[in-house]
Amino acid sequence: MYGQVSSGLSVEAAVVDGDVRLSAAGRTVEIPAIWLRDNAPDADSRDVLSGQRLFNIVDLPADIRVREATVVEDRLRVRFTPGGHRTSFALDALLGEANRVADLDLRSERAKRLWRDSTAAAALEPVRWQLYLERPAPALRQVVEWGFVLLQGVPAEAGQVTKVAETFGYVRETNYGRIFDVRVEPNPVNLAFTGLAITPHTDNPYREPVPTLQLLLCLHNAAEGGDSGMVDGFAAAAELRETDRAAFDVLTTTPVTYRYHGDGARLGAVVPLIGLDAEQRIREIRFNNRSMEVPLADPERVRAFYGAYRRFAELLYQPEAQLNFRLDTGDCLIFDNTRALHARTAFAAAGGRHLQGTYADLDGLNSTLRRLEEQGR
Ligand code: FE2
Repeated sequence: MYGQVSSGLSVEAAVVDGDVRLSAAGRTVEIPAIWLRDNAPDADSRDVLSGQRLFNIVDLPADIRVREATVVEDRLRVRFTPGGHRTSFALDALLGEANRVADLDLRSERAKRLWRDSTAAAALEPVRWQLYLERPAPALRQVVEWGFVLLQGVPAEAGQVTKVAETFGYVRETNYGRIFDVRVEPNPVNLAFTGLAITPHTDNPYREPVPTLQLLLCLHNAAEGGDSGMVDGFAAAAELRETDRAAFDVLTTTPVTYRYHGDGARLGAVVPLIGLDAEQRIREIRFNNRSMEVPLADPERVRAFYGAYRRFAELLYQPEAQLNFRLDTGDCLIFDNTRALHARTAFAAAGGRHLQGTYADLDGLNSTLRRLEEQGR
């Protein structure tokens, strides 16, 4: 049976061993009966309002087969056996299913533009706050693809950084509060609150789940030094995979401990430095020399881990990998804390440098971005 999809392609459907085979322009797609039944979009299978599934896997016959598959115009009609359930699918959606899954995954390396050399990222223009408020999607898209965006002209007011987060999502409150101040403190609980240089790292790796976004707003900066840096951790991990596969494998499979004890909190997470998704794509980096502990296990594994860790650190610390800039009053950096490592040079305590930071999460940002892009904004 033939039909047409919106691209003008003619599509043919056949039942082969109880499953469906679609043929279009020389391409064949085999779709198992159980997948079709599970994804049936009809009103007996899905709630009309929410689109949520109304049955469980155990409600379906284990031996389900397609009895009949016909293409009528732009739809595939299917009848199943046993039970005789009937449903139909938009052919466009069926043929585009693999792409749809890829579009939904905004966190793995598949959705990213990796930058090993900071000159590529340096070409990105900062976004004026007013322009951002009128049209946030390009800046949010930059966070997804490049791992960060720099907003300029943000009101340099205490608490404003949470309002920036609320333009696309929700503040992630922690034991540091809704906001944390980054400035020199007399009895710092964290080296961030001193004038010391801080090498590239991700924040709060000791939380599970980790805060996936960080925002830093500069309220004022009259200090000598204290420049900020960004490094693409995914790009460094991808280079490690290419140049030293064994080291990459060690870092993706060795759990390390991240710990934070301070101001009443006892936080801990046991994770690898480089997290992969189910298809072995890079999805999350946790890298923080200040709070990582390597479990004392089999000595061979410990040695292998330290070798791989050093190799990865060397890649991350290469000067050309780091994009450097100075945050001035009203500059707000938004970055993916699972990918973009941040750093800063040392500064003199007397100079006066005050940033306010907050955490947020990528799910809110990704949701807002998808909505805006669906609306063509
Ligand atoms: Fe930090």
